[in-house]
Amino acid sequence: MAEVVIVDSADAAGDLVAAHIAAKVAERADYTLGVATGSTPLPVYQALARQREAGVDFSRLTAFALDEYVGLDEAHPESYHSVIDREVTVPLGLDPARVHVPDGTEATVATAGDRYEAALEAHGGVDLQLLGIGSDGHVGFNEQGSSLASLTRIKTLTQRTREDNARFFDSLDQVPTHCVTQGIGTILRAGHLVLLAFGEGKADAVAKAVEGPVSASMPASCIQLHRHVTVVVDEAAASRLERSDYYRWVYDNKPAWQGL
Ligand code: PGA
Repeated sequence: MAEVVIVDSADAAGDLVAAHIAAKVAERADYTLGVATGSTPLPVYQALARQREAGVDFSRLTAFALDEYVGLDEAHPESYHSVIDREVTVPLGLDPARVHVPDGTEATVATAGDRYEAALEAHGGVDLQLLGIGSDGHVGFNEQGSSLASLTRIKTLTQRTREDNARFFDSLDQVPTHCVTQGIGTILRAGHLVLLAFGEGKADAVAKAVEGPVSASMPASCIQLHRHVTVVVDEAAASRLERSDYYRWVYDNKPAWQGL
């Protein structure tokens, strides 16, 4: 079962997850982090930046992003190349040569998935994958119906995802229609999945992902197929979990040596 940790705030989640990552990097400097975009992981990146200020060196860390839009220039402020650079690479002092984002260039996108899978394999995979969750249960840009065995490939975004992401653009028309995203099968190869969700708008998707049936119709339910998953949620995002009392009991009684 996924470990479900219910925290008071997104900032508390950021501190918890960043402390874990910093401890792993202290053990092994060439740790590999799977990074996600969107609003949800920002408290983790901010807490990691504070860890850096406190002396943690992330310069040997490798990062692999989950996805990228197709057809946005890499220099566009909302391309995930730019977002990862702005929110992760620069504030954490990562080596840009160790930061990987799928290629969303239209001219070369046909081979982008295979090339990204090859890069992941050559590197030896991801140690810890940060995940957000869409209000409809998508992970990465794996929309409802995505094969649970899928690998990195081009996908068509749903209108709901485009509308959710329109806040980052001047208008809905500017939101790309396609993306390149790690597949669910790709995500499931990471050593540890850490799924974060905050707010009432995610409560239904979180409950279905954690406690509902495993189904391609609820891509985030793939976490039930992985042997090491931590779900970190605030009270609002936890509000529809049926077994929240049990999750609190488990976490409160967890031996300190277990970590996340
Ligand atoms: P959000 O997006 O973090 O901006 O809510 C999550 C997602 O779409 O996966």
